[in-house]
Amino acid sequence: MRTPEGVTVTLVRGDITRQSADVIVNAANSSLLGGGGVDGAIHRRGGPEILAACRELRASRYGKGLRTGQAVATTAGALDAQWVVHTVGPVWSSSEDRSALLASCYRESLRVAAESGARTVAFPAISTGIYGWPMDDGARIALRTVLEVAAPPVTEVRFVLFDAQAYAEFEEALEALEAQG
Ligand code: APR
Repeated sequence: MRTPEGVTVTLVRGDITRQSADVIVNAANSSLLGGGGVDGAIHRRGGPEILAACRELRASRYGKGLRTGQAVATTAGALDAQWVVHTVGPVWSSSEDRSALLASCYRESLRVAAESGARTVAFPAISTGIYGWPMDDGARIALRTVLEVAAPPVTEVRFVLFDAQAYAEFEEALEALEAQG
């Protein structure tokens, strides 16, 4: 799908750490010091340079850690990317609507990526793993936000979905948004 600004939005199935892109987005936590899921995979495959850069951020601008919905760039280490943009998704809550925080992850990650001059940005499905966000709703928020804000210099936003169910949910959400026009 192409946005009015000419940004191509694509869905792929796979492991985000094997993607080639200017920016690979990490579903981090506020400590910026690693974790499981995407976070663990990025640090494992990206190598210690990434953690070292995160530690420097904690020792300087982000002494208290990265807030939910914020994003910050570091080296991509050994990954086939120029930068990793770390963002902290909201934990799912059935009693509190945190959708705006999840949308902020995509908006802020695109802003940081664009500021770095990135043309291609690869996203995981933020918050839909350990943080428990329902995949269908996570897909809708992700796609709606990206279709709304993605703009040059970014030319491609790629959602890298780890399993068939995630891919199917994103495909369905994208088709629904395309049908809305
Ligand atoms: N490539 C692409 N997608 C992946 C990969 C991978 N290598 N590994 C996991 N995923 C998918 C998950 O299946 C899920 O759909 O990414 C989505 C996000 O899952 P998590 O990585 O668990 O991230 P999140 O739900 O945002 O939770 C963040 O988990 O890893 C910790 O440190 C992290 O505390 C933070 C929390």
